[in-house]
Amino acid sequence: MRPVEISEHCTWVGALDPQLRVFDVVMPTGEGTTYNAYLVKGAEKTALVDCVKEKFMPQLLANVESLIDPASLDYIVTNHTEPDHGGGLATMLEHAPQAKVVISKTATGFLKGLLKRDVDPILAADGDEIDLGGVKLRFIWAPFLHWPDTMFTYVVEDKVLMPCDFLGCHYCDDRLFDDKVDDFSGAFRYYFDVIMRPFKEFAIKALDKIDQLDIEMIAPSHGPILRSDPKAYLFEYRERASMPSPRKPGDPVSVLIFYASAYGNTEKMAGALADGARQAGAQVATFDATQIDIAEVLPMIEASDGLMVGSPTIVADAVEQIWSLLSHLITIKVKGKYGASFGSYAWSGEAPMMLTNRLKELKFRTPLEPLRAVFTVDEDDLAAARKFGADFAQAVKAGAK
Ligand code: FEO
Repeated sequence: MRPVEISEHCTWVGALDPQLRVFDVVMPTGEGTTYNAYLVKGAEKTALVDCVKEKFMPQLLANVESLIDPASLDYIVTNHTEPDHGGGLATMLEHAPQAKVVISKTATGFLKGLLKRDVDPILAADGDEIDLGGVKLRFIWAPFLHWPDTMFTYVVEDKVLMPCDFLGCHYCDDRLFDDKVDDFSGAFRYYFDVIMRPFKEFAIKALDKIDQLDIEMIAPSHGPILRSDPKAYLFEYRERASMPSPRKPGDPVSVLIFYASAYGNTEKMAGALADGARQAGAQVATFDATQIDIAEVLPMIEASDGLMVGSPTIVADAVEQIWSLLSHLITIKVKGKYGASFGSYAWSGEAPMMLTNRLKELKFRTPLEPLRAVFTVDEDDLAAARKFGADFAQAVKAGAK
């Protein structure tokens, strides 16, 4: 796609990736994505804000070359070093050897790791500005959105905020602007939920920081450029980041149970666990993990107090659906929640132990040893499961006080 002028001094020079279906290995991207990079031209100097994924560098380079000689670039601003943006930096520097890389102080180590050489970057302090001649870039620290190194770049005279991944989404449409593309609200919400929600306190801090900024356009690193009503997007982020935990003091604790079951035995255990936990005063919901939409249950898990996961043991392992659920927990806040595991098995029975180990790695509190039942689940097993569920709920209640 050819460059697109987005404001008086700024031009989109990024790359489209319409075929991408999974981002960062775990995040479905049904509508592809874009790697947005922007050229900002002043009367005296020129800056490139962000690069693109290495394999898309030919697109970026062709776009830059159609506007300027890349060797004349003065600055390459790297708002965040993750390889979907920083991956092309080494190649860009080969074409623009005189350009100074501008990063946040926190990015110093990441930059060295990324490039495997020292490039003597400019460390932009919060509020620092670079004058390009008639247009200035202002840098705004916004750590943990979603990496520690993240900063925003604000093009002062154009009132364009380039907030890196913040306010972005995985949605590919060459019409580029929010008022021209189709409805991308689902992708926008999903991106917040998966990428930004674990850092919602930092999101609020960043929103507070830019609250007084005069913003006419938000030009993020992925997805549509937001120009129709920038404040509405900022408001939506604030709402979503401010969403309180549904449980208020005095409310019962909530426990979610996810299971997969090959022959119905682990499912029976899940039912008995739920009975026991309910009798002990917890609100309980039970899910067959083979039937869920993980994106939909993640907010429930984040709002819950305790999580039990159950799997049969198949070839000395837990089943894929349960591992998949656990792998997505890195996108929400689970540290300090209560966790437990269970499962029936025929001969080796490792799965529940493996699941509890994973819960521990995810920083769950795991007050109970994994619950296992051999082969056919009988009345004794169900009684043990009811007790386990009750003990778990009691532990969650004690921890919630
Ligand atoms: Fe789009 Fe965190 O990089």
